[in-house]
Amino acid sequence: MHQFIQQYRGFAIASFIAVGVTVALSLHWFLYQHHADGWAQPVDWSASTTQQPLPSLRTLAHEHGLAIGAAVAMEPLLNDPTYSTLVAREFSSLSPENAMKFELLQPQRNQFQFAAADALVDFAQAHKMTIYAHVLVWYRRLPDWLVKGHWSRDELKSILKHHIDTVVGRYRGKIAAWDVVNEAVNMEGTGLRDDFWRQGIGPDYIDLAFEWAHAADPDAKLFYNDFGGEALGRKSDQIYQLVKGLRDRGVPIHGVGLQSHFKLWKLPSLKDIAANVQRLSDLGLDVEFTELDLRVHKAWGSQTDKLNRQAQVYQQITNLCLTAPRCRGITTWGVSDQWSWVRFVLQQPDAPLLFDQNYQPKPAYFAVAQALRSHP
Ligand code: G3I
Repeated sequence: MHQFIQQYRGFAIASFIAVGVTVALSLHWFLYQHHADGWAQPVDWSASTTQQPLPSLRTLAHEHGLAIGAAVAMEPLLNDPTYSTLVAREFSSLSPENAMKFELLQPQRNQFQFAAADALVDFAQAHKMTIYAHVLVWYRRLPDWLVKGHWSRDELKSILKHHIDTVVGRYRGKIAAWDVVNEAVNMEGTGLRDDFWRQGIGPDYIDLAFEWAHAADPDAKLFYNDFGGEALGRKSDQIYQLVKGLRDRGVPIHGVGLQSHFKLWKLPSLKDIAANVQRLSDLGLDVEFTELDLRVHKAWGSQTDKLNRQAQVYQQITNLCLTAPRCRGITTWGVSDQWSWVRFVLQQPDAPLLFDQNYQPKPAYFAVAQALRSHP
């Protein structure tokens, strides 16, 4: 028996060492791989939470001519002073998370509901903020009267032109940029989505939308916006070809919005994002990170580790935008974690934004501030 314990103990110790070495090597490989994609090593930002008060992100970003924005939900913007005070202090740009979507602006044909959108515009003007407006043409959030109707191509063109003329015309001179068309490229990156607008009008709905928007407000910058095409790849190649074609045909497009809904456990290559931003800039287009958020809940490690790594990613994106020739702004898709669509719509217990559920700055906030402060 004694001999068996001796032999068994040796086997157990050897197994323990083997497992420990395997875990250490895997962790090293992961961190190296992470680093190999250009994402810097995580650092401990937790100590920085005590650094108060800092100049606001809005103040720091202004020094570099960079817009720093947030997508806002109207309920807290109008009813929660903590939310609205934080928005006005920290951000220089506003985006309507939902208030300017087709379904909410024109719920019935020719019956427009502008109260919420007007309130957002009023808030922005009162706080000297710019507006990156979202969204004129999207295949989602379309009202029943529209999607259930049977329209000829000309009828649908007329409906879309009327929507754009009415909405863009109403806010002429008050909107810095519009998401004119959102998510028109299919997930596979093989072409355009076969969606409501393409089926009803044809692929030229995109050219038409940009031309109508430009006619309605010649001073607004007009963007194509999409997700999943931030780094080099099939979808971003398709987006590149789409916007290059628009430029080549003389269609008034001024920029591309990279939505940037990232996941910490599945990050694109930072180097490939930078290369994609560069090639879009080489077309003469501006680039904005339009819906930046970074989910962490499925990543490995403690919450502190995850939030530190999240901070590093936010900092790297900020540095990229500061150094890219035509990156004009970064907008986070939401203000604080409890209002994130990831919790509301995806029903995931996540923490993707710069402020936590108590509106307190997270490590990511301090990392963005440091990137802005330390950029020459
Ligand atoms: O306001 C109603 C509320 O009264 C109701 O009780 C509740 C339950 O049905 O729904 C609430 O409306 C929801 C709305 O978000 C406000 O929370 C809608 O159902 C829900 O569909 C809507 O989701 C939005 C989603 O777009 C679809 O429009 C998200 O907030 C918004 O963050 C998300 O944003 C999109 C961008 O527009 C495009 N890029 C991707 C991004 C994330 O999906």
